Amino acid sequence: MRKFLTMTAIAAVMVGTGGMAAKAAENVEVLHWWTSGGEASALDVLKKDLETKGISWTDMPVAGGGGTEAMTVLRARVTGGNAPTAVQMLGFDIVDWAKEGALGNLDEVAAKEGWDKVIPSALQKFSKYDGHWIAAPVNVHSTNWVWINKAALDKAGGKQPESWEELIALLDKFKEQGITPIAHGGQPWQDATIFDAVVLSLGNDFYNQAFIELNPDALGGAKMKEAFDRMTKLRSYVDDNFSGRDWNLASAMVIEGKAGVQFMGDWAKGEFVKAGKKPGTDFVCMRFPGTQGTVTFNSDQFAMFKVSAEKTAAQLVMASAIENPAFQSAFNVVKGSAPARTDVSDAAFDDCGKKAIKDLAEADKNGTLFGSMAHGHANPASVKNAIYDVVTRQFNGELSSDEAAEELKAAVEAAK
Ligand code: GAL
Repeated sequence: MRKFLTMTAIAAVMVGTGGMAAKAAENVEVLHWWTSGGEASALDVLKKDLETKGISWTDMPVAGGGGTEAMTVLRARVTGGNAPTAVQMLGFDIVDWAKEGALGNLDEVAAKEGWDKVIPSALQKFSKYDGHWIAAPVNVHSTNWVWINKAALDKAGGKQPESWEELIALLDKFKEQGITPIAHGGQPWQDATIFDAVVLSLGNDFYNQAFIELNPDALGGAKMKEAFDRMTKLRSYVDDNFSGRDWNLASAMVIEGKAGVQFMGDWAKGEFVKAGKKPGTDFVCMRFPGTQGTVTFNSDQFAMFKVSAEKTAAQLVMASAIENPAFQSAFNVVKGSAPARTDVSDAAFDDCGKKAIKDLAEADKNGTLFGSMAHGHANPASVKNAIYDVVTRQFNGELSSDEAAEELKAAVEAAK
């Protein structure tokens, strides 16, 4: 069994005599996909925090929202016997790597700092494998958000839409204003992010049956056809250049008033904040109509790979830094997410951040907190990618709603 350094030993390595071991312990190579303006600012909070602890940062960014490309690069690195020290990862991907025996062990620092008591069990499900801590959760995001340009909303009467019908009426008003109603980037993970919210808007039970339980009747049934009909309707409000657009450029359209809304996880708020925009004044955040009280979450975690003993020391320092409550507040204020611990004050967060924290706590208590399908917290990558494929083809008009529901059922069955 792998032997882990005590915190005293880590300190000894860090203030060591400058030999090879000391140099290695002072560096972490981090693979991630945080390349947008808001994401990079948040990452900077972590880099700077580690610098104060004597840990330098080797950056391994792999652009591509949702992390699809990053996971491909990671596979190549690990197969080549050259795993990074720490990797930004989502939900079931972490568990899949743990099953392969590729991940390290953070038990020592987790026990010392009492992570079991402060990290919600919904996250621990992915931070632990076989009873051992394998990853350090840095945040909680959720996908059923709507980001609205405040001036455009005011012009349209100022009322936040509470139902599907009201949402459509608002989109029509944006059209009349001469702006693009929905800012969207046609990439499979972005289509799937909207689909999370649309499926959820047809009921918690439906979301649970379709995406968590993978019930064939829910996947291929009448309600799923309705969900695809709603996607077709939404598709009619995007601009001609939506195909392939990055999500942060779609956020910029709302920020600049060129578009009315974006349906996106709360990493979008990181872009609004970065642009100096204020909730309630410049933009409005709300849950997708029909999903208030329910949260489809995803948590970014830093999974630690099995590396040499010197690098293990730096992993433990990094993991401890990530779970520090003051860091959790500073980082998540910039990132747009909620803290990964339940004991962090919401004082420094803006109104959208406060709402995110409150919604999460309530959803957790009420049994209405579900893992996001689009962001790897409902199913392993094989199933997620099968769903992406059908959702994207339908969104692009290659499949009717009936065909899409049939294909969804068959594709999930084959991928399970
Ligand atoms: C999500 C991730 C977020 C954000 C987003 C867009 O999967 O959890 O932190 O980075 O992708 O890149």
